[in-house]
Amino acid sequence: MISVSFLKSKYNRQETIALIDESQASLIHVDLMDGIYVPQKNFEIDEIMKLLNNTKKPLDIHLMVNNPLIYIKELVKLKPYIITIHLDGTLNIEETIAYLKNFNIKVGVAINPNESEHIIDSYIDKIDYVLIMSVYPGEGGQKFIPSVLEKINYFKGKLLIGIDGGINEDSIKYLKGYPIDIIVSGSYICQSDNFNERINNLLNIK
Ligand code: DX5
Ligand code: ZN
Repeated sequence: MISVSFLKSKYNRQETIALIDESQASLIHVDLMDGIYVPQKNFEIDEIMKLLNNTKKPLDIHLMVNNPLIYIKELVKLKPYIITIHLDGTLNIEETIAYLKNFNIKVGVAINPNESEHIIDSYIDKIDYVLIMSVYPGEGGQKFIPSVLEKINYFKGKLLIGIDGGINEDSIKYLKGYPIDIIVSGSYICQSDNFNERINNLLNIK
């Protein structure tokens, strides 16, 4: 499955979201950054609520924020498919996971390039999805870090597996043979004139 991030695009946000929604992508990847967990801040929560209120595709929300539960309490209204948190930014991890479960939303945990796969060991039975970060959170358009791939096989058969950051027609080649369910790609798709062509390139090479 391809999940498209609209952080960096040649179109404005509204146009980009509409183009993703019309494309062959499976999911819309929504990056939310608070300026605290990462230095960048991209949205106010009510902007997100407005922008994504009417999309047809399921939402895959990636929270790069401290204390995600505050945001999650609003975001559940969008009925997202997955919400992914970073453990090092999360105050009440157990409570946050339980809150999402209660709304029947898949719970994801992201692992930064410098974090071990074992950071989620004590939550593995309570979550659904692991998002392997192949760039450091903060910006679209960064370079793929291949060494993160070593963590993937540990999760095989245990969780849904996603990878996020720097995926394009070159770096996708590294993913061959890995059990990846969701490929997140942003600038490679959204900085082009033809989203479907780019999505197909990723699907065909993989
Ligand atoms: C990084 C974000 C990624 C990013 C992906 O902070 O979490 O989702 O936007 O975009 P590309 O594919 O441009 O790296
Ligand atoms: Zn992301």
